[in-house]
Amino acid sequence: MKIALGSDHGGYSLKQSLVPFLQQRDIEVADAGTNSEASVDYPDFAERVALLVTQGEADAGILVCGTGIGISIAANKVPGIRAALVTDTFMARMAKEHNNANVLVLGGRVLDEQKACDLVGAWLDATFEGGRHQGRLDKITEIEIKYR
Ligand code: RB5
Repeated sequence: MKIALGSDHGGYSLKQSLVPFLQQRDIEVADAGTNSEASVDYPDFAERVALLVTQGEADAGILVCGTGIGISIAANKVPGIRAALVTDTFMARMAKEHNNANVLVLGGRVLDEQKACDLVGAWLDATFEGGRHQGRLDKITEIEIKYR
């Protein structure tokens, strides 16, 4: 499995701390930046990770900005992306089981390293339930097409 990782400066430190956690799980990491604490614009990194996922170069993505809000809004503008901002393990699990989120979003100024790893683990370990939830995802796709 390959996961694309991206952040702005507000999420840089937390993004870096996720790399060994993912590698310990034998997950290949595609680091889309940013690469320092220097100020950058979160939409640039949201777009990079979103495209890696929608173009099939990564199986899923993880994005981090200060709160997770801006970078999730930006990622969700890319058709086919279901980016879920989560703050607890229930949300992280539901993001996969019900929403089949292909991008997990975290707040670097909200979570400590351990909590962030717990959330990523809950999302990775969960399985999409399909069924009625697939029907709802299909409706999201219909909205994307309708307002393209
Ligand atoms: C950057 O200062 C901050 O606005 C950004 O990381 C994020 O929190 C935006 O939603």
